Amino acid sequence: MLYTRHLSLELRCCAFSTHPTQRPRALRASSAEQDGRGKVFVAGAAGNTGKRIVKELLASGYKVRAGVRDLAAGSNILPADGNMEIVQADVTEGAEKLAAVIGNVESVVCATGFRRSLDFFAPWKVDNFGTVNLVDACKRNNIRKFVLISSILVNGAAMGQVLNPAYVFLNALGLTLIAKLQAENYVRKSGINYTIIRPGGLTNNPPSGNIVMTQEDTLYEGSISRDAVASVAVKALQCPEASYKVVEIVSRFDAPRKSIQELFAAIK
Ligand SMILES: NC(=O)c1ccc[n+]([C@@H]2O[C@H](COP(=O)([O-])OP(=O)(O)OC[C@H]3O[C@@H](n4cnc5c(N)ncnc54)[C@H](OP(=O)(O)O)[C@@H]3O)[C@@H](O)[C@H]2O)c1
Repeated sequence: MLYTRHLSLELRCCAFSTHPTQRPRALRASSAEQDGRGKVFVAGAAGNTGKRIVKELLASGYKVRAGVRDLAAGSNILPADGNMEIVQADVTEGAEKLAAVIGNVESVVCATGFRRSLDFFAPWKVDNFGTVNLVDACKRNNIRKFVLISSILVNGAAMGQVLNPAYVFLNALGLTLIAKLQAENYVRKSGINYTIIRPGGLTNNPPSGNIVMTQEDTLYEGSISRDAVASVAVKALQCPEASYKVVEIVSRFDAPRKSIQELFAAIK
């Protein structure tokens, strides 16, 4: 993406040095039961970030209901796991249908993003109305926690970044960032305990450097590994410090090493 200044980072963040996949499954499961981790629905579960969130959730001992648009494609992308079920879920199909698919889960993570097409309104349909549908479905189902993967620069106009090439480019693609901001506002007014995570440009590289987490409307450049975003999203389910917060994240070599919990706690 234009707004990614891909950093060639090599140093792994200490926050990932005790990656949950390194822990035995039995220990993970029992600790998950102890701290009340329930089932999580992931929307956009077959996407590049969504599939990493699913993996991180499973590694952390959660049960997962993975929402995909295409069951066959989703089954090829996601790992076979006894703690995961794959369900068909298109966020544009309305809250009622989504509520039925989401079912009795504790939390919902939204990692959807429009796919480029000839439909100029695709971002508005998916990144705004689709997320609104998901929030309405969550309200119907009394979901405890909602985590939204959004983007830095969604509020670029208010930040004085209206001429930022990324802001211009992404909004030229069907008002993408404005659509995301509308959805964020709906999440914030929903009454559900939310965490909105706004990452910089996403990479498929392993996590490197250290995570920088700032309050809303502060970052306008930088990049971060999708694996790191997945870790932050899963931690948002666990940390009370993440409640009702909008955070922006990138990774940098020169940032101090802090746990994700500490990072959330530092955000007002
Ligand atoms: N790319 C970047 O640099 C960047 C930077 C900052 C923020 N973000 C945001 O971060 C999020 C994840 O990005 P990504 O690049 O990992 O996403 P991605 O790989 O493009 O995946 C997007 C997912 O959304 C799903 N989706 C699309 N329309 C849907 C619908 N109507 N109902 C349900 N699911 C739908 C797609 O399903 P299919 O697999 O069926 O197509 C796909 O699984 C997005 O919101 C994106 O805007 C991206």
